[in-house]
Amino acid sequence: MAGDKVSIHGSWASRWVFILAATGSAVGLGSIWKFPYMTGVYGGGAFVLMFLLCIALLGLPVMLAETLIGRRSRQSPANALRELALDAAHSHKWSWAAFAGMITALLILSFYSVVGGWSLDYIVDLGRGDFQGIGAEQAGRYFADMVSDPWRLILWHTLFMLLSAWVIARGVVAGLERSLRIMMPLLFVLLLILLGYSLTTGYFMAGVHFMFNLDTSRLLDGLLPAMGHAFFSLSVGVGSILIYGAYMPKSSSIAGTVVAVALLDTFVSLLAGLALFPIVFSAGLNASEGPGLMFVTLPLAFGNVAFGQLMGVVFFVLVAVAAWSSAISLLEPMVAYLVERTKVSRLWVTAALAFICWFVGLGTVFSFNIWKEAKFFVSEGGAFQLYQWGATGGLDLFGVIDFFTSRIMLPLGALTFVVFASWVMGREAVRDELAMRNASLFAVTFFLMRYVAPLGILIVFAAQLLK
Ligand code: PFF
Repeated sequence: MAGDKVSIHGSWASRWVFILAATGSAVGLGSIWKFPYMTGVYGGGAFVLMFLLCIALLGLPVMLAETLIGRRSRQSPANALRELALDAAHSHKWSWAAFAGMITALLILSFYSVVGGWSLDYIVDLGRGDFQGIGAEQAGRYFADMVSDPWRLILWHTLFMLLSAWVIARGVVAGLERSLRIMMPLLFVLLLILLGYSLTTGYFMAGVHFMFNLDTSRLLDGLLPAMGHAFFSLSVGVGSILIYGAYMPKSSSIAGTVVAVALLDTFVSLLAGLALFPIVFSAGLNASEGPGLMFVTLPLAFGNVAFGQLMGVVFFVLVAVAAWSSAISLLEPMVAYLVERTKVSRLWVTAALAFICWFVGLGTVFSFNIWKEAKFFVSEGGAFQLYQWGATGGLDLFGVIDFFTSRIMLPLGALTFVVFASWVMGREAVRDELAMRNASLFAVTFFLMRYVAPLGILIVFAAQLLK
């Protein structure tokens, strides 16, 4: 029967390793870099509330769906959907949607690696003492200088991509476990230390207020971004969690494990926000600064405390590792798929895919410098233009890729997986795979998967269109 198969790619030694790997995938730049800056851009409390609701009502059911699909089929996303659909006498075309998800993962990796590269750059900068005694304005200028230098970004982007490809080429199971065991707990400890620093700024409550005070007029503004980010943060919608589920031992309970991972991920996001915003306010920085937020505030903190140089280096090492363990999970679904479908070895498949992602990532690199003025989807004075050089509004190329992946493809991927599990595979298969002891808890879970999550995703899309 389907549930007793093993994956050709290997499997996790225990449930604990799945938790590590899935947490490694979930906790990354999304929590530490993206969540705080999006909270800043989309108005604080309103965004945080929407994010938490989306995690609980939409993200969790999707994460359960992906994990169980993976574990039942023990294959890469596209092959998993193909096989399970045929088993349930449905069309094999479901696999196309999963394939689109795997492409989305590669697109995300293309910019993820660039930002992961920034954290590598900062390890060196902090280590050199560049930020000792620095002021807010200089910290801002430092970041602006870094991103305006394409060669510098390319160097670190290349290194980051090579590091990710290296682990994948060795095989996820062998490559991941050892590093994550140490790094993940250490990341928590350092975030707590940073939080301690924020408490001393005198602006801690201002940070709390910003993050939890509800400005109802902004609720709708942040709804689609919050949903997209909830999926991004949990690593669902592109097959990453699915492929990790495929390596999960049959004896592990999916529900408890998945809830633990989601809680950890959410906890890290909130912690990162609580650590960053007091620093933003105490330094008179702008909360809606955008992608540079973390890279301006944290050096400022580290540059001005005792042992800041050392702590700063350790912190950015951990950010890089958190990013690295997420990047791996973005590459793995397509690698697993191509290994299953072709006779090419894991090494070559990985090398080719990493190169493609690296190349596409150059677009993100240039968005911050030589192509800074290239703007897409510009609407100025009521007129809409697809592309305009030098426009004040619109999105740069990084913005376009981020928008397309997070706001459109991730929710569509999430919808695919949750509908597939609850409608195509059906109640009995889900019940068998989840093996929850409590029948009413299962009923609630299945209801969330079957109705709440799919309708919720559609409603958010509709709300955005009608806005
Ligand atoms: N969850 C990761 C983060 O928050 O940084 C990013 C990510 C990884 C998104 C894997 C999607 C994914 F499939």
